[in-house]
Amino acid sequence: MMNKNVLITGINGQDGSYLAEFLLEKDYEVWGTVKRNSVSETQSTRIEHLRSNKLINLEYADLTDMASLIRILNKIKPDEIYNLAAQSHVRISFDQPIYTANVTGIGTLNLLEAIRMVSPTSKIYQASSSEMFGNNIDNDGFQRETTPMTPVSPYGCAKVFSYNISRNYKNSYGMFISNGILFNHESPRRGTNFVTNKIVKAAVRIKLGLQDKLYLGNLDATRDWGHAKDYVEAMWLMLQADTPDDYVCATGKSHSVRELCEYVFSQLDLFYLEHIEINKKHLRPEELRDLKGDASKIKKELGWCPKYTFESMLDEMIEYWKTYYKQKDIIYV
Ligand code: NAP
Ligand code: GDD
Repeated sequence: MMNKNVLITGINGQDGSYLAEFLLEKDYEVWGTVKRNSVSETQSTRIEHLRSNKLINLEYADLTDMASLIRILNKIKPDEIYNLAAQSHVRISFDQPIYTANVTGIGTLNLLEAIRMVSPTSKIYQASSSEMFGNNIDNDGFQRETTPMTPVSPYGCAKVFSYNISRNYKNSYGMFISNGILFNHESPRRGTNFVTNKIVKAAVRIKLGLQDKLYLGNLDATRDWGHAKDYVEAMWLMLQADTPDDYVCATGKSHSVRELCEYVFSQLDLFYLEHIEINKKHLRPEELRDLKGDASKIKKELGWCPKYTFESMLDEMIEYWKTYYKQKDIIYV
């Protein structure tokens, strides 16, 4: 039997790399898009360990370059497409709002239009986000599929556009498109300018005497943090359903940035307040204050069952950075 073909845009991102591993284990033929970078080694850092697998293929493409998407779709005609590519950093979206709208918003439309023309029967996963809700919270304290969306960042606005245009293409053209409304998910592969990995990496470095201070922004924001490995399984489950639909993925537990600091530093026998300073440059012009998701729909309908807890996820990240610096011949004290 032929292997199923899958296309992952943004395969070298945090989620793309875990999803590629997950799908290779299921014997998919995995195609991924990478962006050209002048340092070619950084184009595929997170998936370097998978490159020898015969079932993985990389292609240059950019969501802003529709011709590159058409070329790949024509070549592969994928059974499943996971649109993970994005300018995904919320703070940076305030510095580069137009770029973010072009990639994270219009880029999705470029892809959908290319799929409609070239491969309309492909099943599509759109990486939507809890950032789309803005500061709306249901009376019970949770956000869910029905919570209104009033985004508070250029990134959130671009994601709402992608969410809406995906639904519009599903309804207008009968395409199989599901939105995963994913809450924050992390891992040792998380970019180190997102708050979890920034804190864990800095705390380990402080413990080793490599750094004195950690500069952060708002410590009082709360987030619902899960593990990326659990969340890529949810993406796949959505495309195995009989009909397309939109699903929230979250742990249902939320913690403040302050609590996260407290936990990570205490795991290293440090007291966070002795090492943290606030720097205004990490504050956002408008902040999304609190996130806590209700994932009962995906649990009930698709049987999704996350394995990691907040603590086990952070412990894995701490271990990663401890090992990383050990391999660099630094003695951990
Ligand atoms: P990530 O690590 O930032 O990965 C994004 C990927 O997109 C990278 O491979 C990046 O390539 C690529 N990319 C950026 N601009 C592109 C463009 N113009 N054309 C093609 N590719 C481009 O993000 P992630 O954490 O894996 O998240 C995956 C997706 O889920 C994103 O759409 C994100 O917005 C969304 N999401 C994430 C979370 C979360 O908590 N992680 C939650 C909800 C939704 P380079 O590295 O070469 O720039
Ligand atoms: N990045 C960062 N750096 N965030 C900080 C810092 C800092 O120094 N100090 C405090 N924070 C706070 C932010 O203000 C925010 O409230 C929280 O930490 C989390 O920030 P990020 O880790 O950057 O994630 P995010 O919630 O803004 O966005 C992530 O999650 C979204 C889903 O809710 C990204 O992965 C988005 O792509 C994703 O859609």
